[in-house]
Amino acid sequence: MSKSNQANVLITGGAGYLGSVLASTLLQEGFGVTVLDNFLFGQNSLMDCCGNDRFRVIRGDVRNQKVVKDAVASHDIIIPLAALVGAPLCNFDETGAVSTNQTAIESLCRLASPSQVILYPTTNSGYGVGERGKFCTEETPLRPISLYGMTKVRAEEAVLARGNSLTFRLATVFGASPRMRVDLLVNDFVYRAVHDRAVLIFEGHFKRNYIHIRDVARAFLHAIANFSSMRGKPYNVGLEEANLSKLELCATIKKHLPQFTYVEAPIGEDPDKRDYIVSNQRILGTGFRTEWDLDRGIRELIKAFTILRQSKYANV
Ligand SMILES: NC(=O)c1ccc[n+]([C@@H]2O[C@H](COP(=O)([O-])OP(=O)(O)OC[C@H]3O[C@@H](n4cnc5c(N)ncnc54)[C@H](O)[C@@H]3O)[C@@H](O)[C@H]2O)c1
Repeated sequence: MSKSNQANVLITGGAGYLGSVLASTLLQEGFGVTVLDNFLFGQNSLMDCCGNDRFRVIRGDVRNQKVVKDAVASHDIIIPLAALVGAPLCNFDETGAVSTNQTAIESLCRLASPSQVILYPTTNSGYGVGERGKFCTEETPLRPISLYGMTKVRAEEAVLARGNSLTFRLATVFGASPRMRVDLLVNDFVYRAVHDRAVLIFEGHFKRNYIHIRDVARAFLHAIANFSSMRGKPYNVGLEEANLSKLELCATIKKHLPQFTYVEAPIGEDPDKRDYIVSNQRILGTGFRTEWDLDRGIRELIKAFTILRQSKYANV
């Protein structure tokens, strides 16, 4: 599959944090792109795509089988991003989490024809509590703890079981997007470093893996270009050099913002107990290389948060 045959891609949840960057990246590469989204957050992130004649948009809910059936037809590749993302949102709306993250994906797998390709992103938080010093590979058993992790793991099983699919187990994503999220770890800490100059950390030695949003979009392009050799498997997607604890992440941010102060205190617990290191060798073995390290992403985020500021109830 290549862009030269102008494949049509359906992105559900394409108006979200990842989808907004992915949709415009695919359009730039010559693909036809349809976004199906219910615009849950009132976001206007796809405005820059609307002038492109290869861009289509459907306002609808992925839990509505008729909407999905109509949307799926005439697309070669389906990238289902629509979800209630993150443990806090899933705990807030448990019914919505199961119906959107799991049942809608299982139903999509039945509605898509076997010839249609599905590329599905899940979270590597499914690895839960890792064994100290041992890298999680795609063979490591998934032991999700939160409802978010469990719905994503079950959806991934359905996607891989249908064949003609592959999945990405994404590290914690960072970087700027037209639909910005400041509830992701790196984005959150840089936002606080820019605006508060300080952050209080819990579970500071817990290690995680990270990946820039533009490298996620590049991983999807890579999967489309190399689908015949990559199909049928899950792939960890993270920065091979960035299995960092929260404290190490703060030290990296401080290199860019020397006034940044961080203090550890037992003020909370991660609902997914994420403390693991991840090997990304499988996707590296297919020729994929990341282009955005943490330093480059932090420089980008400092500029992004100079623009973005939650100051609704203040005069400045
Ligand atoms: N951001 C990360 O760090 C990360 C890591 C691993 C996996 N993922 C996965 O990537 C995908 C996208 O995540 P994101 O960070 O862009 O989150 P996001 O919340 O920004 O995007 C989710 C999108 O889905 C839409 N949506 C929600 N419910 C819907 C419904 N019922 N019908 C139609 N649209 C609906 C929302 O409007 C939004 O545009 C999710 O599946 C998530 O699990 C994200």
